[in-house]
Amino acid sequence: MRSLVIDCDPGCDDAIAILLALRHANVKAITTVSGNVPVAQSTANALMTVALANTETPVYSGARLPFSGPQIHNDVNHGRDGLGGIKRHSHSRTSESKSACNFLLDCVSKDDWVVALGPLTNLAQTLERDSDWGKRIAGISIMGGSTSVGNISPVAEFNTFADPQAAAKVYTSGAKLKMCGLNLTHQLQVTDETVSMVSDLRTAKSSFVAALLNFLLKRAERLIGSRCAPLHDPCAVLAVTHPTLFEFEECCVEIETQGALTSGMTVIDQRTTRPRLAPNTLVATHIDATEAIKVIVDSLETQ
Ligand code: BDR
Ligand code: CA
Repeated sequence: MRSLVIDCDPGCDDAIAILLALRHANVKAITTVSGNVPVAQSTANALMTVALANTETPVYSGARLPFSGPQIHNDVNHGRDGLGGIKRHSHSRTSESKSACNFLLDCVSKDDWVVALGPLTNLAQTLERDSDWGKRIAGISIMGGSTSVGNISPVAEFNTFADPQAAAKVYTSGAKLKMCGLNLTHQLQVTDETVSMVSDLRTAKSSFVAALLNFLLKRAERLIGSRCAPLHDPCAVLAVTHPTLFEFEECCVEIETQGALTSGMTVIDQRTTRPRLAPNTLVATHIDATEAIKVIVDSLETQ
């Protein structure tokens, strides 16, 4: 099994990604960041998720503010508490005293992938302290960006938009990078059929995930009039644990940090004419969605 560290801002889809990773990888730790919700809340949500999964996975709390620029959150899509206001499980877990950045610097090594599911602030802080850090780890699998349209702006995806300077630092770090952007994650849609498959498992994890999915579908129905929603963050886990479900294209990805209209845009060289800019990222272009949903649902089978 791959060794992973999950850097995240739970977030409904982050929580589902954590449960998926706990089943299919050796999750060394979870580091949290401000994004969908403030970092105190994303840490509380990560702790509740590992408690529910009954694992001893340590959680390290990370950046409270972006590497640069204003702080934004995403309660429209995840609710004020980040987990759609669903019933919370009681537990006695607490986060570690070391910071996320210190953990990433000291404890992540050449066999470890970092799966980044929120703004890239913790990773940029780590690179600020050791510019070679990205070359000393196995790689970074990112949920963020898009080869086409954005979600938080016409051209930018939320995680990249929330801290563009941090993203720029990661994409120029020399680390081995995989990118699952909106072009890919919108291929992985959950529907009421997915909720039924999950609910039928009748485990603590499956009831938790069914409640999260119901929240996402209700929100989609309100916003776009259809009970169908993309599951973003699990894609970046699967890109490491189940790479054969994907097609990737090697591309140069750069981050727009200045543009008045385009801040946080991933500028991706997919020109069919040559020469192209030197590639720095494996950009995921296609996922076998049916199989991916099966892997995600199956990960909730055990208590
Ligand atoms: C990303 O933004 C967040 O709201 C989700 O958790 C995901 O990481 C999708 O744009
Ligand atoms: Ca996220």
